[in-house]
Amino acid sequence: MDILLPVIIAYLLGSIPSALWIGNIFYKTDIRTKGSGNLGATNTFRTLGAKAGIVVTVLDILKGTAATILPLVMVTPVHPLILGLIAVVGHMFPVFAKFKGGKAVATSGGILLGYQWPLFLVAVVVLLIALKITKMVSLSSIILAIVFIIYTTIYAINTGDYPFMIVIIILASFIIYRHRANISRIRNGTEPKVKW
Ligand code: G3P
Repeated sequence: MDILLPVIIAYLLGSIPSALWIGNIFYKTDIRTKGSGNLGATNTFRTLGAKAGIVVTVLDILKGTAATILPLVMVTPVHPLILGLIAVVGHMFPVFAKFKGGKAVATSGGILLGYQWPLFLVAVVVLLIALKITKMVSLSSIILAIVFIIYTTIYAINTGDYPFMIVIIILASFIIYRHRANISRIRNGTEPKVKW
């Protein structure tokens, strides 16, 4: 039970479809039918505006953080990063939204916040710089994923922290894979840009 229960809690936390619920409850809008159709913070900003976008961003981040810090509040041998990873799986395949969820960016960030918060700040800075240059959230997310693969590989070679590197590579792969449609749009020049 000290393995199964935290795993289930982590999955359920990740499964909370904040973008869907905030849209349905406060805006009477199913954001799956708007914009990119993605149940994520970017599509919430795009479809429902900054206030809803910020709320969804924070909630999606906190899902990853809450799962990662579960071992602080319950006895479990499951590693915090594994619980974070399970929350990201919940975010991508949410039981509360017919298993069609988001693209793993904010919830992965939440893992960094819960596990090594300075790295979360680094991720935010890298994302903002990439966004300033590319004007595309999707491309910036992919760049962030690649930067983290390179960083954690170098870090692992120097410190021997290979488990962390493996988790980051899995998360980065999720992020890149979930952006397949965005990659096609970037390639044919139809990916939406932000005014920033
Ligand atoms: O975090 C998701 C973002 O990178 C792309 O979202 O809605 O433009 O596909 P969207």
